[in-house]
Amino acid sequence: MSSNNAAQHQNLLDQYQQIQAKKLNLDLTRGKPATAQLALSDALDGILQGNYSCADGSDARNYGGALGIPEARQFAADYLGAKPSQVLVGGNSSLQLMYQVVTNAYYHGVNNSEQAWIKEAGSAGKIKFLCPAPGYDRHFSICETLGIEMIPVTMDSNGPDMDQVEALLRNDPLIKGIWCVPKYANPNGVVYSDDVVERFAQLGKIAGANFRIIWDNAYAEHHLVENPPELASLLALSEKYGTLDNAVVIGSTSKITFAGAGISFLASSESNIAGFVDQLGIATIGPDKVNQLRHVRFLKDLPGLRALMQEHRRILQPKFELVLKHLDEGLAGKTHNGRPLGTWTRPDGGYFVLFDTQPGLADKVVKLCAGAGVKLTPAGSTWPYKKDPANSNIRLAPSFPGLSEIDEAMQVFVLCVELATLEQ
Ligand SMILES: Cc1ncc(COP(=O)(O)O)c(C=O)c1O
Repeated sequence: MSSNNAAQHQNLLDQYQQIQAKKLNLDLTRGKPATAQLALSDALDGILQGNYSCADGSDARNYGGALGIPEARQFAADYLGAKPSQVLVGGNSSLQLMYQVVTNAYYHGVNNSEQAWIKEAGSAGKIKFLCPAPGYDRHFSICETLGIEMIPVTMDSNGPDMDQVEALLRNDPLIKGIWCVPKYANPNGVVYSDDVVERFAQLGKIAGANFRIIWDNAYAEHHLVENPPELASLLALSEKYGTLDNAVVIGSTSKITFAGAGISFLASSESNIAGFVDQLGIATIGPDKVNQLRHVRFLKDLPGLRALMQEHRRILQPKFELVLKHLDEGLAGKTHNGRPLGTWTRPDGGYFVLFDTQPGLADKVVKLCAGAGVKLTPAGSTWPYKKDPANSNIRLAPSFPGLSEIDEAMQVFVLCVELATLEQ
C-alpha cells in the first residue's frame, strides 16, 4: 500500500470502528413491503360485510372452486393479459404455484405420466433448467430440492442472452425449463425487450412440448417512475406462434395488498390449466375464495389496482432515491487500480438495487457490513448453487426499513465498499 493509501485506509478504519461502537442493528436484506405499504390495503378487513356471494351465485365460504371464483379469474386475466379460461387463481403465494407446477411436471409430467420429467432423465441422470443469473434465489431452491441441474445464463440490459438460450436448448434435450422475472427482474431490475420476449415465445419450437417457461411476472405493476417501460405479452406472442403450452405466466398481489395474505395467479393454455387443476385437486378441495372475493371487492379492476400502486410508489420511490444518492455521492467516479469501486442499477421498478463490487469482493463487503451492524443478503445467493462466479453481486433491498435506517445503513455500505476495495 502506498503511503497515501495507507493514510486513507487508516481513516476508513477509524470511521469503521466509530460505527461499530454505535452497535447498529440494520437490515437491507428483506424484499418485503413496509408496514405503511401494507396499511394501504387495511380496508380488505371487513369489506365483505357479510356478503359472501360470488358472481356465479356460489358461496365463497364453502368448499370447491379449484380454479378460483369467476370475478377473481376475470381480474387476474386482465392483470396478466389472458382470457379468464386460461387463468387459475390460487392462495396467497405464487411461489407455491411455481413449486407445484415444477414438482407436478417433474413427477407426473406436463400432460400425462408418460412425459414426467423424471422419466425423461432416464439413465442420463438429471433434467436441467436454465437460470438467467443473477436471479431469484427461491426459484433456484425449487430446482435444488428436486435435484434439477441449474445452468446459469448471462443477462444483459435486454434480458437473458437469447443466442445462448437457443444454443443450449438445441444441444440438450434434457433442458426442461427456464426461470424468468421478465419485468424489473429480481435482483437487477431488467425489463425484457420486445425482441427477447418474441424469441421466448418461439423457444417451444426448439425445446419441444415438455419444455416450460416459468414467467414469474411478480413486479408487473410495481413501477418507480412516471412513464414505466412496457413488457411485451408472452401469452399473446405464444398464441401467435402456437406455443402457449410452453408458457406458464405467474403473478400475485403479495406486493400490492398483503404480502402474507394476498392472492396468486397462473395463466397458460386451457389444457395446461386443466391438467394443473387435476393435480391441485389432490392437495386441496379449493383455494381461499373468501380472500379472493375480498380482493376483487377492494381492488375492483385494473385501474383500481394501478391507483393503489401509485400509493406504493409514493412510499418506495424516496427509499430508492436515498440508496442511489448514497451510491452516487459516496462512490461515483472513485477508482482503485484504475477501475471503478462499483457499479449499480437504477431500476424503473421492482424491489431491488443491484450493486457490483470489483471482482472477488462481494463476500468481503457483506462481512464488513455485518461487522458494523448492517445485514445484507449473503453474497452469492442470487446465483444457482449460491455461486456468483465473479463474487461481485450484492442485492440491496430498501423497501422495508424507514428512511433514517436506510440513510445509516447506506453510509456503512459505502464505507465498507471503500474499505474492502482498498484492502484487496
Ligand atoms: C421474483 C419473485 N417471485 C415471487 C416472489 C414471491 O411471491 P409470492 O409472495 O406470491 O409467493 C418474490 C418475492 O420476493 C419474488 O421476488
